[in-house]
Amino acid sequence: MAPPVDPLVHGFMYDRHGQPRGLLMSIRVCFVCLGNICRSPTADGVMVQLVHHAELSDQIIVDSAGTSAHHVGEGADRRSAAVALERGYALTSRSRQFVPSDWKRFDYVLAMDRSNLRNLQRLPGARGFTGTLALFRDFDPTAARGSDTPDPYYGGSGGFDDVLDICERGCQGLLDHIRAEHGL
Ligand code: 4NP
Repeated sequence: MAPPVDPLVHGFMYDRHGQPRGLLMSIRVCFVCLGNICRSPTADGVMVQLVHHAELSDQIIVDSAGTSAHHVGEGADRRSAAVALERGYALTSRSRQFVPSDWKRFDYVLAMDRSNLRNLQRLPGARGFTGTLALFRDFDPTAARGSDTPDPYYGGSGGFDDVLDICERGCQGLLDHIRAEHGL
């Protein structure tokens, strides 16, 4: 019987004689906000495109989730989707809640603000997480350490543009960090 496939293994490496040499491990990234309809889907869409342009889509898998279940099953907020589309990003995520089993599925869990970071830190399994749990904006080179990605949900349209600016800077910083850390 075939051995169970580790979900983090996405293929095999072969030597020049075609012999299997090892396993190719995916690096998995999850962006987390409150509703998973504004900020984390925006970061998700931007990161997917950056990874695609870097030709790393086989190695870096991107997802997003919310700490709340209020919007589960919904697509991205139409205001987020509209500003993203103006800059060429398609936001295709469906809202889901971050669940404790996600600690085993991801290498990088990035909270969009400090409140969501605290909520994640309180979840079962957080203490045993061996990956990187961090504030997303710590990868934005223009932001002071510990900065939030502001929640645009109840504000005007400018807030959605600001979130997209932050996501573009933060995702580039995050990709640079991952490439350096993993030699990609
Ligand atoms: P997000 O934005 O966390 O960036 O998806 C929000 C979406 C919905 C709500 C708050 C923030 N809400 O209160 O319903």
